[in-house]
Amino acid sequence: MEEKVILRPATPDDLEAILALQQTAPGAASWQPADYANAFADAAGLCLLAEDSVRARVAGFLVGRLAADEAEILNLAVAPGYRRQGIGRRLVAEALAVARQRGAEKCWLEVRAANRAARDFYRALGFAETSRRRGYYRDPEDDGVVCLRLLAAGPAGVSLQGEPAP
Ligand SMILES: CC(C)(COP(=O)(O)OP(=O)(O)OC[C@H]1O[C@@H](n2cnc3c(N)ncnc32)[C@H](O)[C@@H]1OP(=O)(O)O)[C@@H](O)C(=O)NCCC(=O)NCCS
Repeated sequence: MEEKVILRPATPDDLEAILALQQTAPGAASWQPADYANAFADAAGLCLLAEDSVRARVAGFLVGRLAADEAEILNLAVAPGYRRQGIGRRLVAEALAVARQRGAEKCWLEVRAANRAARDFYRALGFAETSRRRGYYRDPEDDGVVCLRLLAAGPAGVSLQGEPAP
């Protein structure tokens, strides 16, 4: 199953499919079309799509941002029928590899405290939970958990085979 899912840059043409996927993933940030338009237009933005090339369906997406030596994952979702197949891991690995190539040394993200699946996912990918922002989220209200992954330089670049953060 996984072999037919390819990663490629997301473009404004993918907006409709990304919004449809977002609807199926309440854990993802509830972005409006303008938020994605800004990300596509941002030179520091990183927009990735996981596409099922056989069924011509969007299986997942990631939106991030790179600034100086820091990267941030801003939104991420994998479609329900494609979860637990390593697609989220591949999206994050690709984002971190690009971030490292562009000089980032660390990657931040924030996740709802109640989103246990995503917290377990990020922990499995070597992110450490560094702090908590009380009442950061609304609708429903929730704490934000700030996560950090250091990006080690090395001959193999960034690897995400479940190893702990360096
Ligand atoms: C979080 C999310 C992106 C994970 O995507 P995914 O493609 O299913 O994840 P992967 O298959 O790459 O999982 C990699 C590892 O993360 C961990 N993991 C993933 N989903 C998990 C879950 N529901 N519960 C516990 N651990 C989980 C596991 O260790 C997994 O490895 P394994 O399957 O070999 O055990 C997906 O569940 C999702 O889209 N959720 C809704 C949107 C969301 O919460 N986004 C995050 C916003 S911050």
